[in-house]
Amino acid sequence: MTVSVENLRDRIRSRKARTGVVGLGYVGLPLAVELAKAGFHATGIDLDERKVQLINDGRSYIPDVASADVQALHATGQLDATTDFAVVRELDTVNICVPTPLRKTKDPDMSYIVSAVEGIAKSLHPGMLVILESTTYPGTTEEVVQPMLEATGLKAGVDFFLAFSPERVDPGNPTFQTHNVPKVVGGITPACSDLAKELYGSAIETIVPVSSTRVAEMVKLLENTFRAVNIGLVNELALMCDRMNIDVWEVVEAAKTKPFGYMAFYPGPGLGGHCIPIDPFYLSWKARQTGFDPRFIELAGHINGGMPHYVVDKVGDALNTRRKPINGSNILIAGVAYKRDIDDLRESPALDVMGLLDKRGARVSYADPYVPEVHGREWTGGYDIKAVDMTRGHIAQYDAVVIITDHKSFDYRALIDEADVIVDTRNAIKGSHPNVFKLGAPRAAEGQKAVV
Ligand SMILES: NC(=O)c1ccc[n+]([C@@H]2O[C@H](COP(=O)([O-])OP(=O)(O)OC[C@H]3O[C@@H](n4cnc5c(N)ncnc54)[C@H](O)[C@@H]3O)[C@@H](O)[C@H]2O)c1
Repeated sequence: MTVSVENLRDRIRSRKARTGVVGLGYVGLPLAVELAKAGFHATGIDLDERKVQLINDGRSYIPDVASADVQALHATGQLDATTDFAVVRELDTVNICVPTPLRKTKDPDMSYIVSAVEGIAKSLHPGMLVILESTTYPGTTEEVVQPMLEATGLKAGVDFFLAFSPERVDPGNPTFQTHNVPKVVGGITPACSDLAKELYGSAIETIVPVSSTRVAEMVKLLENTFRAVNIGLVNELALMCDRMNIDVWEVVEAAKTKPFGYMAFYPGPGLGGHCIPIDPFYLSWKARQTGFDPRFIELAGHINGGMPHYVVDKVGDALNTRRKPINGSNILIAGVAYKRDIDDLRESPALDVMGLLDKRGARVSYADPYVPEVHGREWTGGYDIKAVDMTRGHIAQYDAVVIITDHKSFDYRALIDEADVIVDTRNAIKGSHPNVFKLGAPRAAEGQKAVV
């Protein structure tokens, strides 16, 4: 049996196609909302009953998606959610946006993709379009997803359509969101590509077709490896600058004025989030399967992974100027989310810094307006810890404050005025202050004797 490409194309063009998104997280919920806004009926499928309930109550739990949008789209019947994969029977298209973490051994953990595809395969039907969006190693769509779906007896490119399209969402970015970030698309066959282009073209401004799913998978890994390697480079430069008494932040600002051939990356306390610390290792794992030794990725991982240790050394140096040891000191971590103004704690270097300080005997507290609690299972300290107040009048009780995440809402003036010592890993505090120790910059108190 050969299904008609035109039939699905017409259904997409007329918005009669029923669309589905598996995995309603930072990637999947914005996509489901865009599809619904484009005029499709969009159904989200997630194993998390709480998320499904919130969508069906017309509420968002992702900061980049307005509850008003979810409410309006749910009220008109454009958007709904379920935990039951049986709904796939009624869908014409389904996008898979489930997590792709690493195992402890830094090997890809494909279990979420496998479980989502198993759920879809049970109700796969002729004429359907399936698109994988989860970031993964080149070959996943052909080597993992296609055989699982073809085990149903239906053939990709003939009975159903299969494509890969990497998600490029940047949480917290007010300028670039799902609808205006160009979407790269590669299909198993030209017809698969065309249908995926047609679907995304209805909701997203620019579509970039590539020749295969493997190319599309590799595009995402190039983008994220590029970031990991360049952050590794500037982190190494920060370590050099520290030794050479040069301010790395001033160096980057000046280098940035070159109008060509340079792109600014900034040093920091280490990599965080679900992408940059993880995705390059999907690529190195796959490269090693072919006997290739990917050196840049490993080196960048080594340098970036060492940054939390450098930060803790810096805290030790700062406390040393006050004749205090880390052991027994009260240390306040300012910001635990992995980047500014978001609530995502995944892979955050703050967790490593907190764990290392705890191991050295510090009493660790943290302040973060976006993260009310860090659970014991999320850091090596092992105990639950609640956010504290870091407003004026609540700062002097700490021996040191360590700025890990430069949230805009923090009162940096109050920190300068009240903190005994500050370790600033983000250049959040401009100018030179005797109590501020910056990552990759001359020590404010270099040569200064302890205050006795
Ligand atoms: N967060 C980002 O900034 C970002 C950016 C680009 C790409 N990505 C990639 O997109 C993918 C998804 O990332 P995310 O940040 O949205 O993850 P997330 O953890 O926010 O969301 C994933 C969702 O999938 C659900 N889920 C897990 N297994 C499932 C299953 N078998 N069936 C149905 N639902 C299931 C989870 O309950 C969760 O709601 C990953 O591959 C990630 O690398 C993420």
